[in-house]
Amino acid sequence: ADRVRPLIAGNWKMNGTAAELPELKRIADGVDGTRSSSPYDALICVPATLIDRAIKTVVGSPLAIGGQDCHGAESGAHTGDVSAAMLADAGATHVIVGHSERRADHGETDIDVMDKTLAAHAQGLTAIVCVGETRQEREDGQAMDVVDTQLAGSLPKDAAPGNTVVAYEPVWAIGTGLTPSLLDIEAMHDHMRQRLRERFGPAGARFRLLYGGSVKPANAGEIFGISSVDGALVGGASLKSDDFLAICATV
Ligand code: G3P
Repeated sequence: ADRVRPLIAGNWKMNGTAAELPELKRIADGVDGTRSSSPYDALICVPATLIDRAIKTVVGSPLAIGGQDCHGAESGAHTGDVSAAMLADAGATHVIVGHSERRADHGETDIDVMDKTLAAHAQGLTAIVCVGETRQEREDGQAMDVVDTQLAGSLPKDAAPGNTVVAYEPVWAIGTGLTPSLLDIEAMHDHMRQRLRERFGPAGARFRLLYGGSVKPANAGEIFGISSVDGALVGGASLKSDDFLAICATV
């Protein structure tokens, strides 16, 4: 089967003001300059306050700009929240939903994540739906069951390879420098692929499945070498253009 075109996505989390726009520009220029016929798609998900300026900063480059969360409702009385329409209006093309930090810090459930995914789709945004087990769940041998439940509960019926990306981020690997073994990543990605095929039929084979959690230039190549890994969701290493571009170069 043809390999799915990889996506290298950065998640800046709660980092980024005008001072970081030159770094974003270096990423945009590097993605452009080093790979004019780029074999991958590149995306940086910035804080909502930076989206408009980020779009202006990367204009003309193949780097896409996304948000990190959206509300599940179209609009209304939700002080401090950002809607999918607002992200799209600002120029975002993607949005991360259900990141484990949102699930933990804001109590987001699978139902919330499904609503957010639907809201994103309604505005033409690609949703990057995050799933992943905690350390305890892995130690208890529950990792695949946990991910199955999250996938089943978070992915709406209308999910398709063109509007949805799945990111597997084991919670214990995020920001810790720890990663699962290559065999464990492969087993989980193969398992998720199987579940997507069961639910979505042949289209299930074409969803992009990203790995996230302590992806660095030093380990990216071997992770991308796994056939069921279609890219990465990169946190810390996406804040530095050298690191992010080095990761892209290993695709
Ligand atoms: O969304 C990406 C993230 O959670 C991984 O973070 O810093 O371990 O690459 P990091």
